[in-house]
Amino acid sequence: MTEHADAAAAQLEREREFISRIKIRNLAPLWANRRGVDLSKPASTAVPVRWRYDDIRPDIAEAGDIITAEDAFRRVLVLENPSYPDEMRVTNTLYAGLQLVRPGELAPCHRHSQTALRFIVEGEGAFTSVDGERAWMQPGDFIVTPHGSWHDHANEGAEPVVWLDVLDTPLVGFLDTVFRESYPAPRQQISVPDGTSPARFGANMLPEGYTAASLATPVFHYPYARSRAALVALASAGPFDPCHGLRMQYVNPANGDHATATMGAFLQYLPAAFRGEPFRSTEGILFCAVEGHGRIVTDNETFEWGPRDLVVVPGWHSFRLEADEDAILFNASDRPVQEKLGLLREDRFEK
Ligand SMILES: [Fe+2]
Repeated sequence: MTEHADAAAAQLEREREFISRIKIRNLAPLWANRRGVDLSKPASTAVPVRWRYDDIRPDIAEAGDIITAEDAFRRVLVLENPSYPDEMRVTNTLYAGLQLVRPGELAPCHRHSQTALRFIVEGEGAFTSVDGERAWMQPGDFIVTPHGSWHDHANEGAEPVVWLDVLDTPLVGFLDTVFRESYPAPRQQISVPDGTSPARFGANMLPEGYTAASLATPVFHYPYARSRAALVALASAGPFDPCHGLRMQYVNPANGDHATATMGAFLQYLPAAFRGEPFRSTEGILFCAVEGHGRIVTDNETFEWGPRDLVVVPGWHSFRLEADEDAILFNASDRPVQEKLGLLREDRFEK
C-alpha cells in the first residue's frame, strides 16, 4: 500500500469514527450522505407498471367473495408500485386502487383530509354521495370527493360496480396532516336533490355573488357522456398536441384551475394511428384507458393497453403515446402541487 493510500484509509477511518461519535448528538454529515449521489435530476425509484384489467378482474371479483364492502369499509385492491412494497403507493405521492361495490352493498360514510378522485371503470347503478348529494355513476364518469367532505358509496343496481380511486394519501401523510372521522351512521342523510351541484356550478354559470369556500371544485361529478362529446367534437377541430393528442383538463368551474388542489386529472383523445413524440415530466402519471387500443412506450418497455387497462409512468421517465384506433385515456397526477410550488418541469423533445 502506498503512502497516499494509507493516508486516505486513515482519513476515512477518522471520518467513520467521527460520524458514529456525533450520531448520539443527533447530527449527521451532509457530505458523506451525498457522496456518489447524482443530484442533477430527479431519481424516482418508482418504476413504470401496467395492470391489464382482464388479468386482475378475477382478483377483484374474488375480493368480493372474501369480504363484504361494509366489513372491509373500503373493498379496494391497491395498485402498488413494486418499488414501494406494502406502502400503498402507485407513485411517490399518490395512492390508487380499484374499488368494488356489489349490488345491495354500502361502503360506509366517513370523511378525511385526503382528497379522492374516482374514475368509473365498469358497471352502473351505484352512487357516491358527497356532503348530502348523490352522483349516480356511469362508466367513464369522473367524480371528486374534496378533502373534508362526507362520503359513502352504495350500489342499488343489478351489477357489480368498479371504479379507480386516486388519493393524495402519501402526500398528505408526508405533511403529517391526516385526519379521519366516521359518520355517526353507515349512510349519510341525503339533503340535496340529485343534480343540484351540476345545475348550480356546471352550466357555465355561477350563483350571483358566489365566493368559493375552498380550492376544491363545487362540481363533484363530471359525466363521461359530456366529456366524451366534447373530445369527439374537438377531434375534427383540433389542435392536437404532438405529445398528448387532444388533452382536456377537468377544471374547477369557479376558478378555472384543476379540480382539486393536490391532484389534476385529464381526459385525452388520441386519433387512430397517433404516434406521439417523447415527453417527460416531473409528475408521475397514472393512465386508465377508456376506449381504443394503443401503447405507452417508455425507454425500456412497451405497454400495450386496451379499455380499462392501467399504466403508471413515474416522474421524469420519458414516454410516448401511440393509438391504433381512435382512443380515449383518463389520467391523473400531482400536477397542481408541482405547479403551485413552481417545481413542475416538462421536457418534450429530449429523451
Ligand atoms: Fe374515503
